Amino acid sequence: MNKRDSEIILSMLADGGFVAVQREEDADLVLFNTCCVREHAEERVYNRMQQLAKLKIQRPALILAVGGCMAQKEGTNILDRLPHVDLVFGTGALYEVPELVNRVITHGGPVVSVDAGVRPMRSQAEFDMRESAIRAWVSIAEGCDNRCAYCVVPMVRGAERSKPPGLILDEVSRASEKGHAEIFLLGQNVNSYGHDLAGAPDFPGLLELVNDVPGVKRIRFTTSHPKDMSTRLVEALRDLPRVCEHLHLPLQSGSSRILNVMNRGYSREDYLRKIERLRSAVPNIGLTTDIIVGFPGETDEDFEQTRSALAEIRFDTAYIFKFSPRPGTPAETLRAGMPENVIVHRHKTLLDMQKEISREKARQLVGTQQKVLVAARCEKALGYVIGRTRGYRVVRVRSDEAQVGDEVETVVTEARGWTLYGTPAAAVRYASPSVDPVHAKAESE
Ligand code: 5AD
Ligand code: SF4
Repeated sequence: MNKRDSEIILSMLADGGFVAVQREEDADLVLFNTCCVREHAEERVYNRMQQLAKLKIQRPALILAVGGCMAQKEGTNILDRLPHVDLVFGTGALYEVPELVNRVITHGGPVVSVDAGVRPMRSQAEFDMRESAIRAWVSIAEGCDNRCAYCVVPMVRGAERSKPPGLILDEVSRASEKGHAEIFLLGQNVNSYGHDLAGAPDFPGLLELVNDVPGVKRIRFTTSHPKDMSTRLVEALRDLPRVCEHLHLPLQSGSSRILNVMNRGYSREDYLRKIERLRSAVPNIGLTTDIIVGFPGETDEDFEQTRSALAEIRFDTAYIFKFSPRPGTPAETLRAGMPENVIVHRHKTLLDMQKEISREKARQLVGTQQKVLVAARCEKALGYVIGRTRGYRVVRVRSDEAQVGDEVETVVTEARGWTLYGTPAAAVRYASPSVDPVHAKAESE
């Protein structure tokens, strides 16, 4: 969601005559669009902005801006730690950014806009400076009506608002006309899409509509809340040809007791049942998840439940986070004094285990044929392009001919760690047995 917001900011500033540069030293404006889901993300912004103070002393006209979730949450407090910042704007003020920047230029800073409330749902189709040539992030809903005990998102993004389907389809059409063959639908909880809009389709219904937009080759979406994952969604994953066989389904914890305290609305058994149904309908589905370790009160037994869930389910990838107490969330007051070394140990245990599972799952794909949508020429390996399978695995494909945006039938020939290597299926018969320089290099490393 933040990446899309950053694209929108870039597009608006470009319309106002700004040009993106590569180095901070060359910039007249440095703007950080921030996240506040975990404390670590916030600390990084403070550190980076503190470093930029030196540049500001050399060039007082340089404008420094902090926007997005952290700014929404912290408001003017940001200026206490970063007095040299010229502009602070919250998530609700996204569309005001050019005007706010102009205000700093004409009247000087600091300018603060964090009271705009939630921003209106409007068309974002015109903002077409996109980070990827092949992928288009398309926001379908903003905000969240859930109250997971650890999560600050509802406080900074507000209640859930769905975007009318007409606006979404316009944006999808425009993106696909511009060559973005992969549409990535975004919402804090896509599975509850449409609940707040009379006459709107539900999320599987929306997928059907997007599936029919000419030019779209692939559809992905995030994030799905397990409690709202319906049979119709499983059918959409199974039946709609452009919807990729990949699901990011945050588990958070394998312990029903902790899930209950987290207010997630499902138990370990509910989750396992959903995975079972999903896999029986779509056998090769790529599955990824989020896990939080060290949630207040997590006992050895609770942790063991999470460990065994990961071992049992065998996700392709799991994003494993250490619990970070967020101000104003129910979990902040639950601080049960979990020793940091225990959290660090649990975190490492899961990371190590998942690494092995991810490698093993990569090895299982060797010999299979996969459709790879080419995203770029591979910078690290000459003669290769890089792209993803429908199941969301990254593959380096040996090809001089394949172009960005091509979907190449690829035979996976090798797994290095969790990176897959392959050869276009059409070329396999002619593949030479000579030593592959990239793999030889990787071997010697
Ligand atoms: N501490 C640690 N991880 C968190 N997440 C959300 N809030 C917190 C928190 N307070 C994780 C969840 C979520 C992902 C986006 O970030 O796993 O799915
Ligand atoms: Fe946060 Fe839970 Fe909403 Fe996700 S579903 S944004 S974790 S409150």
